[in-house]
Amino acid sequence: MPAPSPHPHTRRRAWVEVDTGAIGRNLARVRDHVGPGVKIIPMVKCGGYGLGVEHVVAALAPGRPFGYGVASIDEGLELRDLGVREPVMVCCPVPPADLPRAIAAHLIPTISDLDALSALTRLAAETPPPAPPLPFQIEIDTGMGRAGFPLADSATISARTTSSTSAATPSGSPPTAPPPGPAQTPAAAPTATPSALPPTPPPPHWWPHIRRATTRNLHLFGIFTHLHSADEPDLTSARRQIARFDDFIRTAGGIDPGTLLHCANSAGTLRLSSQTANAVRPGIYLYGGSAGPGTEPPETAVHVRARVALVRDVPGGATVGYGATHRSKGPERWAAVGIGYGDGLPRTLGGRGWGLAGGRRVPVLGRISMDTTVVGVSGDTSPGDVVTFLGRDGETELTLEEVAELADTIGHEILTGLSRRLPRIRMES
Ligand SMILES: Cc1ncc(COP(=O)(O)O)c(C=O)c1O
Repeated sequence: MPAPSPHPHTRRRAWVEVDTGAIGRNLARVRDHVGPGVKIIPMVKCGGYGLGVEHVVAALAPGRPFGYGVASIDEGLELRDLGVREPVMVCCPVPPADLPRAIAAHLIPTISDLDALSALTRLAAETPPPAPPLPFQIEIDTGMGRAGFPLADSATISARTTSSTSAATPSGSPPTAPPPGPAQTPAAAPTATPSALPPTPPPPHWWPHIRRATTRNLHLFGIFTHLHSADEPDLTSARRQIARFDDFIRTAGGIDPGTLLHCANSAGTLRLSSQTANAVRPGIYLYGGSAGPGTEPPETAVHVRARVALVRDVPGGATVGYGATHRSKGPERWAAVGIGYGDGLPRTLGGRGWGLAGGRRVPVLGRISMDTTVVGVSGDTSPGDVVTFLGRDGETELTLEEVAELADTIGHEILTGLSRRLPRIRMES
């Protein structure tokens, strides 16, 4: 009798295993790191980073996150269809014409300019009383450059933040959240002296408009910024961005103490802290991606596996794949595995990636085709055997970082690039 398959749940040619237990434990690690006072908003955009939003929400929900972050209204609607009741923040700018859909689904849209504020104000005016004020977020641009209200005088702010000790530290200590009340003078900061800091800059020109609008039937639910380099070895620019954010929150004036304030992605969450933020927005770490140098690795949460379709013994001088880029140096055993770039296995792994077969590393030979990848095997590999291209096989592992680096990309792209052809199979370790 053949030995039972270690993967009895599927006879598919290729699939993705999503480990909900590992995702839940990665969320718990974030919780332990930031402490109970900081709200967690897991990013579940792009179908839960390509893993199936229904699976990642099922994994995260027992950890009771404050809410979820998505990139579009349609993604927010998908969460509502799944029965998610928590706040859902659309963390990309929402075009004014789409705002009614966001509001109808009780999503929290992000705005980055005064045109969107006007559109929102008009919508709020049309909402019949006694409807509660419409919630929205603003993004402020501290350096990412792709969205967000600009800070008024970046030269002044930059000078202030360079000389300020308010920059985040890599201590990993949880962000503290003093109530962001009325504007504080620089002298209120612990180490500030009038000679050390230039005078408080005036608030940016758009801020009074936001304040005026929110006195009527709009509710400023959150203010956030996004870090561009929190996963880099050098944290100087990320610290500067956080300092700009903190500076704005402290000096703008009129921010309600209940406002959600957030700047950190996974790397920012685990490597930095803000003096004003009261929430974090981790993504990739929850799904098994590193949060950058010096951080504890997350648990592996995703395994990409495929079955061997054919095994061939070839003599020396045989070639394989488009372009015939691999030529056997002597007799070799090749296994054709049913997965290719059409499944989202990056073509750039051709000739330099790895699979795991029977707990051992096996090299990807030649170019990856749309449906097939050939690996060099030895010994007793047979059709139907499973080869793992991401994740663990027994004691061996291909981490998201290793695969991404070999493919010359980032873990986010590896996961979100997994195509619809691969079924996502939920498992719990
Ligand atoms: C606005 C925003 N916040 C948070 C994240 C989460 O980032 P990461 O997956 O690196 O933790 C992203 C991801 O791209 C994002 O766009």
